Amino acid sequence: MPIAAPCALVIFGASGDLAKRKLIPAIYELAKEKLLPEKFVLVGYARSPMTDEDYRKECREAVQQFARTKPFDVAVWDRIEKNTSYVQGDYGSVDDHAKLADHLTGLDQSAGTAGNRLFYLSTPPNTFEPIIERLGERQTHQTGDSGSWQRVIIEKPFGRDLASAKSLNQLLVKNFGEKQVFRIDHYLGKETVQNMMVMRFANAMFEPIWNYKYIDHVQITVSETLGVGSRGGYYDKSGALRDMVQNHIFQLMALVAMEPPVALDARSIRDEKVKVFQSIRPIRGGANGVNDFTVRGQYTAGGEDKAKTDGYKKEKGVDPNSTTETFAAIKLFIDNWRWSGTPFYLRTGKYLGEKLSEVVVRFRSPPLTLFQKQCESPVFPNDLIVKVQPEEGISWRLNGKVPGGTLNIKSVALDFNYEETFHVESPEAYERLIFDAMTGDQTLFIRADEAEAAWAVIDPIEQGWAQSTRPPEEYAPGTWGPKRAMDLIENDGRRWLQGGNEAPDPVIACSLQ
Ligand code: BG6
Repeated sequence: MPIAAPCALVIFGASGDLAKRKLIPAIYELAKEKLLPEKFVLVGYARSPMTDEDYRKECREAVQQFARTKPFDVAVWDRIEKNTSYVQGDYGSVDDHAKLADHLTGLDQSAGTAGNRLFYLSTPPNTFEPIIERLGERQTHQTGDSGSWQRVIIEKPFGRDLASAKSLNQLLVKNFGEKQVFRIDHYLGKETVQNMMVMRFANAMFEPIWNYKYIDHVQITVSETLGVGSRGGYYDKSGALRDMVQNHIFQLMALVAMEPPVALDARSIRDEKVKVFQSIRPIRGGANGVNDFTVRGQYTAGGEDKAKTDGYKKEKGVDPNSTTETFAAIKLFIDNWRWSGTPFYLRTGKYLGEKLSEVVVRFRSPPLTLFQKQCESPVFPNDLIVKVQPEEGISWRLNGKVPGGTLNIKSVALDFNYEETFHVESPEAYERLIFDAMTGDQTLFIRADEAEAAWAVIDPIEQGWAQSTRPPEEYAPGTWGPKRAMDLIENDGRRWLQGGNEAPDPVIACSLQ
């Protein structure tokens, strides 16, 4: 395990939701695991006036409420709290950034952080530019001294289309080197997502069958049971395609579809992921923005208890006439030798029937065999299901004989469950990612060309939808999205394996003669 060098972690957007729910608790867990450097300071930076004491109190409460592990270990947090401080400032102000820089220099002396800084941009996207510019200016003042490092972690959304992602990348290149930039996609920090590469490339059994000859199609579902909550203002300008598909779902897809990298380093892995995005067949608008490859939906009023809503258009911060999608399903093709003609069905949405992130790889049915001839219906095709959340694990669905004198076949599962196997709870994605940024490992972060290649696929879909006079299709909370999302796959003679299709596979009776 690499050891993180002494450093200061500066969180821009110190009091934001992400900081409270994820980042501060992740720092606590890292401290508990003894993965933080001895000389570590946490600096919150935001616009609201606050004293160091106020901020420390806020952080302590965040850890008590949101830490992954309980009970709260007072001694661990006391050590971090001693080295926690707050700087109030405007994101674009030269003077306020000078104040921050002085504060950090002081900490280098008093806490021994050696000039190493990790800046975390956990702020709205319109603040990225001023923060990056100010940090860049100050960095120029500081380069040349002592071999210290400065790194920037940027939260999503990384742009809202190809053009804005390119200009953000240009701004970053002007101010930093690519080696200093850590574009975050928290899905890459999830254990099961990382396990996908191990599963594919550390086992000999998958590679020979991992292609269009044996795989019928791939489905990826990332469904949520809640709505946009307090994030309506952001979400209404984004929508499910930009918020979830361009990043999280595309990353899952890339790990399923990529070629084996030549080495397990950041460059080799990211090279292969970029090629996947570049090979995706463009999806264009179709007549009136409607085509057989995309479905967009928006939730109406309904639901129960915590998942009760007056409908998307009534959410705080949302335009009452909004055509922003809260559900998206797409079918796409990766035009390369491995995947020629194999559809990838992707879907995500708010207020759906269940919270679930899963990848299903469905294999082709066995060729005509004695079973086909002697059984009342064809045997089931095999499925490999990678469960990302809430359960973490892998499940193989195979055909097995039901015990007894007759030949009855049933689909059975070979299950590998993370928690049961390893007897530990997986760390939160942010723990891993913050640690990697501290040690300078970019493998689980998005490279500039990768973000752009993903946007290049999304842009034509967004354009088609923007030109459409047909609004997104409505769906009731607690369902699995608009009916057309079912049609998208069912018209191809397939079905979504989760969500709305829970009926167990029947037993197939076969005759022995
Ligand atoms: C975020 C999206 O990136 O991911 C949210 O902006 C979404 O809209 C969240 O709710 C889902 O993350 P997870 O880890 O709960 O699946």
